[in-house]
Amino acid sequence: MSDKPPLEEVKARIDYLRQQIVRANEKYHRQDDPEISDAQYDRLKIELKELEAEYPRFDSPDSPTHLVGATPLERFETKAHRLAMLSLENAFSPQDVQDFNRRVEKALGSGSILYTAEIKMDGVAVELVYEHGRLVAALTRGDGRVGEVITANVRTISQIPSSIKNAPPLLEVRGEIYIRRSRFEELNNRRLEKGEALFANPRNAAAGSLRQLDSAVTASRPLEIFCYGVGAVEGLEYSSHYELLEMLAGLGFPVNEQTKGKISIQEALEAHRLWEEHRADFDYDMDGVVIKVDSVAFQQALGFTSKSPRWAVAWKFAPTQETTVVEKILVSVGRTGALTPVAALRPVAIGGVTVSRATLHNEDEVRKKDIREGDTVLVQRAGDVIPEVVKVVLTPDAARSAPFEMPKNCPVCGSQARRIEGEAVTRCVNAQCPAVFKESVRHFASRGAFDMEGVGDKLVAQLADTGLVKELADLFRLDLATLAALERMGEKSAANIVDAVEKSKDISLPRFLYALGIRHVGSHVALVLAGHFGSLEKIMAASVDDLEAIREVGPVVAKSIRSFFDEPNNRKAVDELLAAGVRIAEERIEPVSGSLAGKTFVLTGGLENLTREQAKAALEKLGARVSSSVSKKTDFVVAGKDPGSKLDKALSIGVKVIDEAGLKKMLEDA
Ligand code: IVH
Repeated sequence: MSDKPPLEEVKARIDYLRQQIVRANEKYHRQDDPEISDAQYDRLKIELKELEAEYPRFDSPDSPTHLVGATPLERFETKAHRLAMLSLENAFSPQDVQDFNRRVEKALGSGSILYTAEIKMDGVAVELVYEHGRLVAALTRGDGRVGEVITANVRTISQIPSSIKNAPPLLEVRGEIYIRRSRFEELNNRRLEKGEALFANPRNAAAGSLRQLDSAVTASRPLEIFCYGVGAVEGLEYSSHYELLEMLAGLGFPVNEQTKGKISIQEALEAHRLWEEHRADFDYDMDGVVIKVDSVAFQQALGFTSKSPRWAVAWKFAPTQETTVVEKILVSVGRTGALTPVAALRPVAIGGVTVSRATLHNEDEVRKKDIREGDTVLVQRAGDVIPEVVKVVLTPDAARSAPFEMPKNCPVCGSQARRIEGEAVTRCVNAQCPAVFKESVRHFASRGAFDMEGVGDKLVAQLADTGLVKELADLFRLDLATLAALERMGEKSAANIVDAVEKSKDISLPRFLYALGIRHVGSHVALVLAGHFGSLEKIMAASVDDLEAIREVGPVVAKSIRSFFDEPNNRKAVDELLAAGVRIAEERIEPVSGSLAGKTFVLTGGLENLTREQAKAALEKLGARVSSSVSKKTDFVVAGKDPGSKLDKALSIGVKVIDEAGLKKMLEDA
């Protein structure tokens, strides 16, 4: 006989779990301010579900286990969905997915079912209602049955068509609105500078941006969408989910290109492994993989439970938030001289990586969140973004340590640290602060900038400390003998570095701009500037008004660019770089028009009818970027004869691969 706890205890535990879940739902859905990690939330829900299954007398229809999403906010008008927006059954292990597959096979009385595997975007679900080709309403998911009407806000998202050609009488497109991590960082950096509260993560930023009563605010936020399905539809025939997605893409809706259609359950398991492994290489947050039965007839045969379709499952990735203890609060000095409080953490594994540091952003954030040494905190990691402390979840039983205070002096050079009125950031006043210089060199050589492979934190510190690099252009003056003589540096690594530095001299204008480290000029703004002005001279000569005339450049950014180039030292640094052999490709780049604009290509193997240089020039002329390594933002790999390991990498992370003929067609069609 098993030792069952007394019923009152079970009931108390169930009440506690429900209360915690309701609170977490409220925080997550309505206040866009999550308090516990997704993993903790899932654990609470699983425990509650198990208890309710074991003790049905305590189950109740209004238990949070039976609810979908959040109750709509009052301030937006609400509207019922024609078809409920349900949620997905979760899977947490390959076993759960195999079980799902077996259930499907059993219900259909058939084996070898074909599936579609999609990335599960961590954003905000929306429904776009098109009547006779015109967007008439956009709704949030709300409680699944009734959503908030956010049409005006959704109309500001340029990726979402306001009308579609050859449209059926009724088409409800469903998708996930999200913000790219790189754009999120820029958004939060701007907020940081202005002393505004930071968004906890891209999902919260997207949710907050959609729930603005003033659409102008929404318009200023970099919202994007991936569409993954439909609600009610009239007059459109399709027999497969994958074909439906292709049809949506054909109508102009963004559909995630990673999607793998008509695959076996084994291939779906494989897709999950690959996407999870390369999760950090993507520029957007994802929390799992959605596996859907591909055949629409099969979907209909399987039907729905009250909460989710029986033909789909969401297989979650390992959590990216965990709790740990702040052992110490340190202060680091960044590229702009900003003093940033950093939490030294008791090491914790988050999404397969051990995290022992997390940013606390600035003094106000630490104060607002009241984070102190010894506290247990929620830490979040999202891909390449620096891990951050979200909030305190537990304070020590004994006395807490004193509140954090910003040091009065720079912890690196000892100069005065000053916080300008109205700004959130404290800065080291010393323009020659070694920490500031090291950070700018590191940024200059980093992947999104000059992309000098092998020139990382350690080497930069060595080069700066030994005085070999006193200004940016010195990087291009390093020779083999000098490098090889450095401590812990082999001949071979030295040769690789010389090679990488040499190759990096040919650079596109947006990367060059980004590399300069102008405050507020992230990779996106750099692309916009390059597209608008077309040459470095024109950008350097642009007035604040010229700059502000660009849609995506606001007054703060415009002023920052102008004052950067007004500073004689900066102009000199640019001249020195050009004198040291940096060559900027100044073809006009159109970031918004043309199908190849903003796309990243990697070439591998020999091309027959073009030299690599010609291919590169042709692509760049159309606004595309040619990169040397397959990673993160690669859109296409062009595989010629005898392609190298780049092809393997592309295939392994699911980057689209095209051949020379495909490239030719793209160049012609663009
Ligand atoms: S299909 C009835 N596909 O995940 C099936 N959902 O719990 C409806 N989500 O809030 C969902 N990426 O917004 C589907 N590729 C994807 C998705 C996806 C993200 C979100 C969805 C919903 C939640 C489902």
